[in-house]
Amino acid sequence: MDTPARRHGGTTVTDPTGIPREAAVEAALGTLDLDTKTRLLAGRDMWSLPALPEIGLAPLVMSDGPIGVRGVRWTADDPSVALPSPTALAATWDPALARRAGRLLAQEARRKGVHVLLAPTVNLHRSPLGGRHFEAYSEDPYLTGEIGTGYVLGVQDGGVATTVKHFVANDAETDRFTVNNVVAPRPLRELYLAPFEAIVTGARPWGVMTAYNRVNGRTMTEHHHLVNEVLRAQWGFDGVNVSDWMAARDTKGAIEGGLDLAMPGPGTVYGEALAAAVRAGEVDEAVVDRAVRNVLRLAARVGALKGTEPAVTALPEPVDGEALAREIARRGFVLVRNEGALPLAPGRTVALLGAAARDARVLGGGSAQVFPDRTVSPLDGLTAVLPAGALTYAVGADPTDEPAPAGAGFTLRAVCRDAHGTVLGEGSLPSGQVQWIGDDLPEGVTHDTLHSVEVTGTFTPRESGEHAFGTRGLGAFTLTVGGETLYDGVQEMGDEADPFEAFFGAPTERGTVALTEGVPVEVSLLHPLDREHAAPLPGVLFSLVHLGPRRDPDELIAEAAAAARAADTAIVVVATTERVESEGFDRTDLKLPGRQDDLVRAVAAANPNTVVVVNAGSPVEMPWRDDVAAVLLSWFPGQEGGAALADVLLGAEEPGGRLPTTWPARLADAPVTEVTPVDGELHYREGLFTGYRAWDRTSAAPAYPFGHGLGYTTWEYEALELSPEGATVRVRNIGSRPGREVVQLYVAPVDDPVERPLRWLAGFASVTAGPGEAAETEIRLPRRAFEIWDEAAGAWTAVPGAYEIHAGRSLTDTRLRAVLTVAGTD
Ligand code: BGC
Repeated sequence: MDTPARRHGGTTVTDPTGIPREAAVEAALGTLDLDTKTRLLAGRDMWSLPALPEIGLAPLVMSDGPIGVRGVRWTADDPSVALPSPTALAATWDPALARRAGRLLAQEARRKGVHVLLAPTVNLHRSPLGGRHFEAYSEDPYLTGEIGTGYVLGVQDGGVATTVKHFVANDAETDRFTVNNVVAPRPLRELYLAPFEAIVTGARPWGVMTAYNRVNGRTMTEHHHLVNEVLRAQWGFDGVNVSDWMAARDTKGAIEGGLDLAMPGPGTVYGEALAAAVRAGEVDEAVVDRAVRNVLRLAARVGALKGTEPAVTALPEPVDGEALAREIARRGFVLVRNEGALPLAPGRTVALLGAAARDARVLGGGSAQVFPDRTVSPLDGLTAVLPAGALTYAVGADPTDEPAPAGAGFTLRAVCRDAHGTVLGEGSLPSGQVQWIGDDLPEGVTHDTLHSVEVTGTFTPRESGEHAFGTRGLGAFTLTVGGETLYDGVQEMGDEADPFEAFFGAPTERGTVALTEGVPVEVSLLHPLDREHAAPLPGVLFSLVHLGPRRDPDELIAEAAAAARAADTAIVVVATTERVESEGFDRTDLKLPGRQDDLVRAVAAANPNTVVVVNAGSPVEMPWRDDVAAVLLSWFPGQEGGAALADVLLGAEEPGGRLPTTWPARLADAPVTEVTPVDGELHYREGLFTGYRAWDRTSAAPAYPFGHGLGYTTWEYEALELSPEGATVRVRNIGSRPGREVVQLYVAPVDDPVERPLRWLAGFASVTAGPGEAAETEIRLPRRAFEIWDEAAGAWTAVPGAYEIHAGRSLTDTRLRAVLTVAGTD
């Protein structure tokens, strides 16, 4: 049953008592026979559950998440607003803004007929090598829990469910389907479970997604203890537990382990197999009923079950997606260094450099991908605001030296034919990528009739020279460019273990053609389908890939340095690629790909006013950082990133972000670098000491500490007063322009009687003030900040004693201290 009201971010959330809902759920459940119940739990297709008209149940539709709502189609035909990466959202340190993001996503979900958003991702930044680091919030469980709570409240304000994922300890990608993560009880509770607990108790999510991996020997889709005893019994979770896609492997283990839905359907371990297990006496039907009850309750909440009111009957005000994407982007940008270069003084000329300045990387790869109807690159953003003639552009260095999905300059469509060559239908293509998952096929096309898909259209080069073309995917391909056949053969499966790697993985170059700038050429990639090379996921998955002329890298860098020399300010945009940060694999280093480090060094040598914009979802090494005038981390900034960048560079707005994760100077210094299991096991040997908790114990200094970030004004910390609930902090803006400050509170035990980190984040709040003005904020200090998980007692316990409370701008830049004495648990 829902609790009546909870407070978060200053607003009261009301949730109806749920009693009529429970009665409707029971009534519906009572009429269903075993086969129907188990069919419901098995899923209908890639993204939905079967409808059961006999009880007024509409098909429940799910979609990824977390930075947009893709909908059931993986194509640009049905565009979605693309918000900045979750790392960027966390960098705002603003749960209320996360809540507004959630409301927009609910609006998007409703527009696309989606009831359940497969988000947020609240695994931790245990290691910077984690491939999906960009998709999670922070290394800190408290910050993760606060941002996640805001997000979930926002989505559910709009009557759409969330599935908080991936429960739990899916903090890296290597062997994620099988790895056994060995985590001791204290770090499991105090770090990895903590955000889930905070969100479950603070936002009452209507869903959770269990992870692929095992935890302490048991796979998460069958983890009776963590799901039934902890999540449900201890925390009071009453939502649906859905498997990660294809994760459920054992009928009895899964249903008894508390897994309600096995997705994608219908060929899962539920359905007929579950009905048979009940009939054979292996599984109690009451256990099946428990799962069905959870699904029906979810349906009732989102308005998909007739006879009861949905949880939300009055929708929030409509949200302007473009405006919000731009606001979150600039609020998430973290200015880590500024030697007076920013904001740019009016009238200055600018040399904009870097491949990502023109072809921005606005979002991370994998299941989190959506297709926005426009993206604003840094070049677009600056062109719109700088006077004519003030801006020059040069590529300088390309982060990628392998072909990428056919984007700029291509106009393509996919033509579907049957065995006789008759056209069945056509689909549009974002960047030459055919990603038709499940039954998501162009109109008029079915899997039974579909024999071949041809990606066809034109390419108009932006530059003259040798253009490379290639393929990504498995099976037979014929690739023709300008009438010349570049490839006619079969691509076999490599040794990829992860299905995502197989279809988001390595492209293969097939040949080159000399082309002339501005002169269009016909391209065709024909792909006959065959069973033997069927994709690892049900569907049709392959891409046409392309790489522009490879120019001499030294020449490109020299050209960029010359442009930098001729301008007042040089702005270099450096980036990672989809081959560095995506799903299904981890990173192997933190280096910027290609010659980008050399580019920055050459530009910095040519112009002392060099500003580097880092377009990456997670940390990269920046060996040149002390030699440039400013460094701005833009994360994956979403579709409006370039507009937000222009706002911030020219000073219309200040960058608002603070680091949600420690930024190492070198991978070698990072406390946790082990993400590859040994003999199937990954031991979280560092225990409680990840992120800043670990940096505080080493002699190595990171490039930038947790919580760090500069605005365009200066703050003085004037007063810190403790009260029984928390702390009141007064700060003053002593600069010359208005600003926003994220006031952070850290707790540091004095003479600690137990093994604990030196200090940890316990609260934070944002304030705004004009020049000369003071602002005061009250920050609650949660009791949990003074507790540890007592492994012997299996319970939380307060550690009595004296604690210093530090108030400041980052972990290492605290300005005021006060001492608080905590009494023990009675
Ligand atoms: C990912 C999930 C995602 C699901 C559906 C999985 O591979 O781990 O995060 O929600 O696919 O796309």
